Amino acid sequence: MKYNFDKVVDRWNTHSEKWDGMLEKYGTTDLLPMWEADLDFPTAPCIQEAIVKRAEHGIYGYTLREDSFFNSIINWQEKRNNWKIKKEWIRNSTGTIPAVSVAVNAFTRPGDKVIIQDPVYYRFLDSITFNGRHVVHNTMKYENGQYHIDFDDLEKQVNSRVKMLILCNPQNPVGKVFSKEELIKLGEFCLRNNIIIISDEVYSDIVFSDHKHIPIASLSKELEMCTVTLFGPGKGFNLSGLKPTIIAIANPNLMEAYDFVSQGMQILLKNTFSIEAIEAAYVGGEDWLDECIKYLEGNRDFMVDFVKNKMPKVDIVKPEGTYIAWMDFNGLGMNDEELEKFAVKEMKIGFKYGYTFGRGGEGFQRVNFGCPRALLEEGLTRIEKAVKKL
Ligand SMILES: Cc1ncc(COP(=O)(O)O)c(C=O)c1O
Repeated sequence: MKYNFDKVVDRWNTHSEKWDGMLEKYGTTDLLPMWEADLDFPTAPCIQEAIVKRAEHGIYGYTLREDSFFNSIINWQEKRNNWKIKKEWIRNSTGTIPAVSVAVNAFTRPGDKVIIQDPVYYRFLDSITFNGRHVVHNTMKYENGQYHIDFDDLEKQVNSRVKMLILCNPQNPVGKVFSKEELIKLGEFCLRNNIIIISDEVYSDIVFSDHKHIPIASLSKELEMCTVTLFGPGKGFNLSGLKPTIIAIANPNLMEAYDFVSQGMQILLKNTFSIEAIEAAYVGGEDWLDECIKYLEGNRDFMVDFVKNKMPKVDIVKPEGTYIAWMDFNGLGMNDEELEKFAVKEMKIGFKYGYTFGRGGEGFQRVNFGCPRALLEEGLTRIEKAVKKL
């Protein structure tokens, strides 16, 4: 390997939410933090160099997005996902969830309904409810260790007030990469019912062997016309603190509505370092990313084997992408409050609690395996020892 993902880098005292934020979140600093979804690896050298070079200039005034910036995004989507997008479809925002909130405001009215497929990234819920819209819970089916979309439930719940569906692909927290068949079936449902799709694809750069990320908008012209796609190098290249979100909207009517709301909120403002980082990642970061994916896949396999072989009362959903794993602690017979206390006091692990992902999250914990293998092993060993003592 050209890059060393085994190296443990000290993140304390860097204003890291995952590390330095532990005291506020858990009331202690002696946990191994496996919660916040960023990587414990430095980003690709080419991105570091671009940022340092820009920083050395010393003037950080207002900034432009040049053609080279747009071309890097267009080329990345085509090369990695076989989806041809155009410059005029692209917007940026300081974060993915602000873009979701803009979409909710642009494409629905107060009182309308928005479908989520929980357990799912909990901030979708905030974007819907804090804007006065209602949530439709199309909770996924969990069968034989795998999650599936409940299509019968979708048909039962749909009515004329349902205007939008927020898809999370690859899925946070269960690590699922939706197949072409599933996406086509879901897309047909949305087209039949005039439902706009917000497709959160922020994890699309991290997909493991035997799986392929497919942007739902790339599946047909009709789907392209009813979808807003959110992506960016934040997760894959560990740039989330720079808020490098990219939005692609092919339908000019949807774009007009999106622009109207986002201009009203002024969320299109540009960040100098984010622009440098996006272009550097997409132009020169591919070999780093491919090695990172391989390393993460190794971590995934290590973790699944560890849990299956050493923790008889605990289960794990094998992630197909992302660097988060969904661990099932229901076999311990604890309620969520007891499990939370057990995690902090006995396991000494900072988890993202399963119940925060909505329905279907009870008894689960989301575990971030985006770290050097030694840290992952340390975390798993802590869990194993605490569970054995029960
Ligand atoms: C599925 C999903 N969407 C959006 C976000 C937030 O993304 P950003 O940091 O780009 O706002 C996260 C963060 O963990 C996420 O998991």
